[in-house]
Amino acid sequence: MNQPTYLVIGNPIAHSKSPQIHAAFAAQFAGRAEVADFAYDRLLAPIDAFAAAVAQFAENGGKGANVTVPFKEEAFRLSVARTDRAEAAGAVNTLKLLPDGGLLGDNTDGAGLVADVLRHIEVRGRRILLLGAGGAARGVILPLLAQAPQSLILANRTVAKAEQLIAHFQAATTIPLAACEYAAIEGEFDLVINATSASLGGERLPIANSIFAPNALAYDMMYGKDETPFLAQAREAGVSLRVDGLGMLVGQAAEAFEVWTGLRPDVEPVLAMMRAQL
Ligand code: ATR
Repeated sequence: MNQPTYLVIGNPIAHSKSPQIHAAFAAQFAGRAEVADFAYDRLLAPIDAFAAAVAQFAENGGKGANVTVPFKEEAFRLSVARTDRAEAAGAVNTLKLLPDGGLLGDNTDGAGLVADVLRHIEVRGRRILLLGAGGAARGVILPLLAQAPQSLILANRTVAKAEQLIAHFQAATTIPLAACEYAAIEGEFDLVINATSASLGGERLPIANSIFAPNALAYDMMYGKDETPFLAQAREAGVSLRVDGLGMLVGQAAEAFEVWTGLRPDVEPVLAMMRAQL
């Protein structure tokens, strides 16, 4: 069977932008041996047959795969070796075939977010407010802490979930962490990240305008052609620095591309291309 060397696997998968992003990265290195056989496609795996799909891909010479909803936790369990950032995230979005046929599990989502944030503000010494306590939030905490912020507050509708995550990460850092519900957020923050899925339903979060420090960056992991509900909230609160998650998407792909090929692609032109196509 003829198959690509790299895949993005999910369900659904038809609208994944990853093939286009990775094709653009590979084109930046045309002629290099590392990408001589680079071909990237999407694969729709049945909900109950992710492991079988990965096994078949590996048998047929696959080299690496991106994993998306709803398989990131299953990819974590399938990995025989994992990076620290995958362990911290509890989820895997990047698989790499090891020479012995086993799977290395990595998670590049947080690094993609941090790289995008750093294009706009410094994180070292800053106060971070992370909104949400699901998989998306968990995946970015370790990479954010690695930037040595002053503090990180995790706010969530279900406060117990935020408390659990904070207890987990506080054990490994001296940076002060805290959990609370939205109505109990105190003080102002230099970086406010929306990691909730509230805007999927068009909903706003019950946060006060006063949480944004002067010159704060409002970052939404969501993106779309239109302004997201969270970024609209931030604009109305007077925040001028507002960024959506398209750069995180391209950034996590760049990290995965480097894991597979050892080559660091230039994100900017690919981000501009993807932005133009929204
Ligand atoms: P993901 O993997 O995308 O993080 P998830 O694990 O289902 O998905 O988490 C979704 C996050 O969005 C959670 O923080 C959830 O809050 P709860 O833990 O209280 O459920 C948050 N969320 C979803 N819809 C929301 C809404 N309408 N208002 C506020 N928070 C919402």
